Amino acid sequence: MEKPNLDWGNLPFGYVKADYNVRCTYKDGKWGEIEVSDSEYVPLHIAASCLHYGQESFEGLKAFRGADGKVRIFRMEENAKRFIRSAEGIAMQPMPIELFEEMVRKVVKLNERFIPPYESGASLYIRPLEIGISPKIGVSPAEEYMVIMLVTPVGPYFKAGFKPSKVCLSRDYDRVAPKGTGSIKIGGNYAASLVAGQKAHDLGYAVMIYLDPKEKKYLDEAGAANFYGVKGNTYVTPASETILPSITNMSLRQLARDMGLEVEQRHIPYEELAEFNEVGNCGTAAVCSPIGQITDLDNGRVFEYGMEAAGPVTTSLYNKLRGIQYGTEPDTHGWCEIIEFD
Ligand code: PLP
Ligand code: COI
Repeated sequence: MEKPNLDWGNLPFGYVKADYNVRCTYKDGKWGEIEVSDSEYVPLHIAASCLHYGQESFEGLKAFRGADGKVRIFRMEENAKRFIRSAEGIAMQPMPIELFEEMVRKVVKLNERFIPPYESGASLYIRPLEIGISPKIGVSPAEEYMVIMLVTPVGPYFKAGFKPSKVCLSRDYDRVAPKGTGSIKIGGNYAASLVAGQKAHDLGYAVMIYLDPKEKKYLDEAGAANFYGVKGNTYVTPASETILPSITNMSLRQLARDMGLEVEQRHIPYEELAEFNEVGNCGTAAVCSPIGQITDLDNGRVFEYGMEAAGPVTTSLYNKLRGIQYGTEPDTHGWCEIIEFD
């Protein structure tokens, strides 16, 4: 198996063509066989519901080449469950968990040579997506759907890696509506976040933090990741209907409890930003990333947490989570599936 000629240690979080993707179509009331493709393109009807009315959802998970040479996929069943919730949230056909998992295993095995070596600190990002493919001009759900899973080797999401970043916050933008689609993972939410994200980047910040879209009182989502703060011995993260229930955050809450921290999932008033010792954002792409400074664009207020290095709790959580994913820490909660290669 010839390894691709990639600079494994310096991969960005971006797209690299791998060998294969896998696809499965829902037609005539049932899911078909898993198909393997080496094409980067999808033939679509010009009136497909995904193109006109945004029937599209996606997931993001990772496979890791461990220190022991084994390949681990992290919490795939949780992604499968969320993929179902996302499909149901925009009236698409949900894919059964077993089929989702079979597709993930298959796409990872088919692209084994693209799984970055352990020493690189990189991983194989797996991107499942579902689209409505029936032609629709009247606004109604498609009858036919396609799930595609592609993979790409990735490095860190934030350019600085595991170093504190500067982020901003503004009340001028909502990512989602109060009773809208914030808690599912659909493309439309990300389209709606692009202008705010671009503004943050143009001003030199890594991400835009949103306040809750109803009252603008509480912290909500941190770009394409969940927000958390650490106060004394407590890990605090928002309870909100408008954020995506992050699988990384769920794991960090468990690891925090394992480490003897208190865990609170509740509304976090904006003013509480002044009380945290550490803050960060977390997600599959972001892992857990320290935030060094938050600038409120609306009033110029700056909250400082330290730009030198990550705080001790963020560092411990990061090391523990990465250790489980790369097989250097015991997987006591059974979060990883080891992939057997023939
Ligand atoms: N919030 C948003 C808006 C996201 O896009 C993501 C990324 O998937 C997350 C949170 C983190 O979720 P997870 O940890 O499941 O990747
Ligand atoms: C992830 O963390 O998997 C994400 O989906 C974030 C972003 C790349 C969309």
